[in-house]
Amino acid sequence: MPEYPNETIQVLEERRSVRAFVPDSITEEERKIITSAALRAPNGGKMSKFSLIDVRDRALKEKIAAFCDNQRFVATAPGVYIVLADYSRWFRLFRKYVKTLGVAINIPREDEILLSAVDALLAAENMVIAAQSLGIGSCFIADIIINYRQVKELFALPKYVMPVTLCIFGRSAEPPRERTVRIDAPVVHRDRYTELPDDRLLDMIRPLIPRGANGKPVMSEEEYVGRYYVRRLGSWLSFERARNVHEMFEDWLKSPYEEQ
Ligand SMILES: Cc1cc2nc3c(=O)[nH]c(=O)nc-3n(C[C@H](O)[C@H](O)[C@H](O)COP(=O)(O)O)c2cc1C
Repeated sequence: MPEYPNETIQVLEERRSVRAFVPDSITEEERKIITSAALRAPNGGKMSKFSLIDVRDRALKEKIAAFCDNQRFVATAPGVYIVLADYSRWFRLFRKYVKTLGVAINIPREDEILLSAVDALLAAENMVIAAQSLGIGSCFIADIIINYRQVKELFALPKYVMPVTLCIFGRSAEPPRERTVRIDAPVVHRDRYTELPDDRLLDMIRPLIPRGANGKPVMSEEEYVGRYYVRRLGSWLSFERARNVHEMFEDWLKSPYEEQ
């Protein structure tokens, strides 16, 4: 058993994504602890620019799983939370009450999109870590952004609310897994950014290549890079994702005054 300096570091080190769940394995009290942790996350300007949709209805979970590239395990998770960047509360507040200044109300622009998404992601990570500390597994599912239009309609998302990720929770039905690997590249730069040298680029991905029963990598590094490229930047799904995110940003940046 590895030694950890404290329980918090142990929770961080032992977290793994979980994709098979014991049914009904979260209590209401645990849900409360997890969602309260979301609200305790650092958040820009004390504005908590995020919301969560706690999806309980099985038929809705099935639809979400279908939206998320048909990842079936999503529908079986006891806890399914859509994590949303949410500026709508604040914009409505500004629009209703900023009258004394005698100025036109500006819309939240690109900076606030990013900062709302940051709030939402920090809230999501707090949930995942709180869950882990309770012995509850989790997984981020960012594919929720692939079907923006359908998600917006199904969950009645108002203006200035956009999905950022899905977080799913439940006690694991899988045997404990080894830690997943990480890239082999320095991610901490001292005082200034130092680019990874060209001849270190392939080293970066080497630990990610699966190994066969003989312990040898199942494919060459070049082939593995090609597969990653197709998945991330060259596939139909990657284009769909980009198109939806573009539409999501356009929707946000469209003036609500023009829509009336
Ligand atoms: C933004 C984001 C999106 C993810 N989307 C998915 C997903 O769609 N399906 C999935 O099974 N896992 C998803 N994951 C989980 C990653 O696959 C997982 O975090 C990674 O493989 C590292 O494994 P670990 O979490 O067990 O350390 C996602 C994680 C992040 C942060």
